[in-house]
Amino acid sequence: MYKPSMLLSLLVLFVSDTFATPFKPQARQIYAFPDNATFIENVAVRPNGHILLGTFSNGSLFSLNPDTRTPEAELVAKLPGVGALVGIAEIAPDVFAVGGGDLLPEGFGFVNGSMKVYTVDVKKKKVKVAASLPAATGLNGITPLPGHPGVVLAAESVAGQILRINTATGRIDVAIADTQLGPSSDPAIVPLGVNGIKVSNGYLYFTNSGLGFFGRIKITASGERAGQVERITSIENPGFTHAFDDFVFGSGLTPDAYVALHPNSIQRIAADGEQTLFVGGDGSNLMPYPGPTSVALSRDGRKIYIVTGLGQVVEATLPK
Ligand SMILES: *[C@@H]1O[C@H](CO)[C@@H](O)[C@H](O)[C@H]1NC(C)=O
Ligand SMILES: *[C@@H]1O[C@H](CO)[C@@H](O)[C@H](O)[C@H]1NC(C)=O
Ligand SMILES: *[C@@H]1O[C@H](CO)[C@@H](O)[C@H](O)[C@H]1NC(C)=O
Repeated sequence: MYKPSMLLSLLVLFVSDTFATPFKPQARQIYAFPDNATFIENVAVRPNGHILLGTFSNGSLFSLNPDTRTPEAELVAKLPGVGALVGIAEIAPDVFAVGGGDLLPEGFGFVNGSMKVYTVDVKKKKVKVAASLPAATGLNGITPLPGHPGVVLAAESVAGQILRINTATGRIDVAIADTQLGPSSDPAIVPLGVNGIKVSNGYLYFTNSGLGFFGRIKITASGERAGQVERITSIENPGFTHAFDDFVFGSGLTPDAYVALHPNSIQRIAADGEQTLFVGGDGSNLMPYPGPTSVALSRDGRKIYIVTGLGQVVEATLPK
């Protein structure tokens, strides 16, 4: 059956799709620690919408309300016995697993034996050591393992592993090990492999800083390997100052990934692997070197929060 109106709407759809101007996020700094002195390594959003900031300053974890006119960072806790915090993952409402350790002097990697995973009940300000990692030197991104309350997967950037950590029992084992999770062997490239990790639809998605790609690996319900590493997209010439860091997915059925890329940008990576500059980049002074380290999604799914090595919190709107 011929329906002129249908043809017309198809035509309109085609025209608007082809000539629509690309989405331009509104991005602005909403907070910065004084004097650029606080390296923010990771970020998560609490059930009340406030932003948790994990820093390299004396193991300090902060909370910030983004919806006030002049947001202020309030100390939640100093995690005892570590200088620098890494990944943050919510394991129960307002309870987070947080990794930490003592950074090596050169700043990439941690003192062997110093790394721990804590649980932090943010509202009650209760901190517990959930697990000590006797031989980890590169704990990095942390994410909940779906269907296993209290269990997280953690990137080990130096060893090239995904660790599985039970925060209730302290049990740690290696869920996946692969050379494609490890760093590059080139000494001119940042000595970190797998960095940010997230589980979605039966896959573990990850960035590899040194090897310069965003990829995924199919996993079983218990977080073990069920396939080969797939590279989704990569960057040219990864180095010390040009490297993927942590990331977050937007919302929707096939969400884009928003990936921190040193020295100065957030890249948007679509499900088909198309990579475009989303915020920052050369010519922008929004997030200067060392630039963005991680990204979190607001609770309403309409914004991302970006944190940087200069102690900034930047928000950017997402496409509807
Ligand atoms: C913070 O860093 C920015 C960018 O490098 C610089 O313009 C600014 O002057 C710095 N602020 C302080 C207080 O050091
Ligand atoms: C805590 O961290 C800040 C910023 O990195 C630093 O200036 C300060 O000296 C540290 N304080 C202690 C007690 O280590
Ligand atoms: C860290 O220490 C453990 C022993 O506690 C040792 O087995 C391991 O090889 C060390 N790792 C590195 C990278 O030195």
